[in-house]
Amino acid sequence: MQIETDVSLQPYNTFGIASRAAHFGKAHTLDDIRQAAEAGRPLFILGGGSNLLLRSDLPGLVVQNCLSGREVVEEDAASVLIAAGAGEVWHELVQWTIDRGWAGLENLSLIPGSVGAAPIQNIGAYGVELADVFERLEAIDLATGRLETFSLSDCRFGYRDSAFKNAWKGKFCITRVFLKLQKAPELRLAYGAIRDTLAEMGVSAPGIRDVSEAVIRIRRSKLPDPAVIGNSGSFFKNPELPASRFLDLQARFPDIVSYPLPDGRVKLPAGWLIERCGWKGKKVGKVGCFEKQALVLVNHGGATGEEVYALAQRIVATVEEKFGVRLSPEVNVWP
Ligand code: FAD
Ligand code: EPU
Repeated sequence: MQIETDVSLQPYNTFGIASRAAHFGKAHTLDDIRQAAEAGRPLFILGGGSNLLLRSDLPGLVVQNCLSGREVVEEDAASVLIAAGAGEVWHELVQWTIDRGWAGLENLSLIPGSVGAAPIQNIGAYGVELADVFERLEAIDLATGRLETFSLSDCRFGYRDSAFKNAWKGKFCITRVFLKLQKAPELRLAYGAIRDTLAEMGVSAPGIRDVSEAVIRIRRSKLPDPAVIGNSGSFFKNPELPASRFLDLQARFPDIVSYPLPDGRVKLPAGWLIERCGWKGKKVGKVGCFEKQALVLVNHGGATGEEVYALAQRIVATVEEKFGVRLSPEVNVWP
């Protein structure tokens, strides 16, 4: 693997932050990753940089995971097990499966980033999350260089969460992800505006490609394109509260939007809380809160990671003051 020194990470993070890596390389093989781990420098594994806020320069070695490959591992009359290299582009994998008529990933269309990062926060959208189709993954233990396999239960997936995002943060490099897809689709249309969008598209008997197209339309209508305006998608997670705390809040804010969870708790859309604090569409210097989706913080051009972080902290403080709810970041903030 070729390693360069003092490399700008601006093209490698969708916030467009001009942080620098002391050393930078692209890993195309498992041995590239093992060699990077043995080099003895602090190691940072990078995918597409779409869920990352860089608050400073990175002192060690940044390795972009570029492991490629998509294949069918097993197939029967009802299902297909596929494997994809961690460096594959997630949305291209989704399109590849839709082209072959395999169902399961259509609601996860147009999520930016790499296949290898998808398990890190158990990516989710429009009523589906990675865990719903996940079979297993392979990852290199960066301390030993050994390739290990992790099952669904090993990964401890939760809402925008996994063992890799917390307990095992920085310990493994995910190299390959195995997903089980179905030949007879069970469409999930209940969430958000999917049904209305299909109706607008004039589709009465949708297939997986129609659902993918509807999801793409909805996403384009409310989320900023990182190629145009720097962002990392939702900056915060939607908070989950015990029912009793939610009822207190509802008594004070009767129009509060909420989603009941199967365990009795209640999820609140952070975008609603942030909008109610007056942040939606606000610009503070070079950073701001996106005008169509208050949960998305944006770099209007030339912002530093510290400026984005400072805005995030102000938002956390005002939401906590007004609603007594503390937002936590969904984005991986470094350091
Ligand atoms: P990166 O940002 O490169 O990395 C994220 C973290 O994972 C870092 O800590 C990194 O060190 C680690 N990492 C990356 N690759 C590996 C690997 N192979 N092994 C070990 N660690 C690794 N997310 C959703 O869940 N749902 C959405 O609907 C959604 N919408 C988005 C919309 C926009 C416009 C944007 C910009 C982002 C959105 N996201 C969404 C967030 C983002 O797309 C996902 O989190 C995605 O999985 C990040 O992939 P990445 O390759 O860019 O990861
Ligand atoms: N809302 C507002 N104002 C806003 C934004 C949202 O009031 O500015 C309220 C509305 O009531 C709206 C509700 O929040 O109906 C939900 O909004 P939306 O459907 O846009 O979804 P979200 O909860 O804001 C989550 C994910 C997204 C994912 C969408 C669709 C999180 C943190 N975010 O957003 O994921 O694409 O649902 O499933 O769970 C990401 O993780 O980066 C991401 C974009």
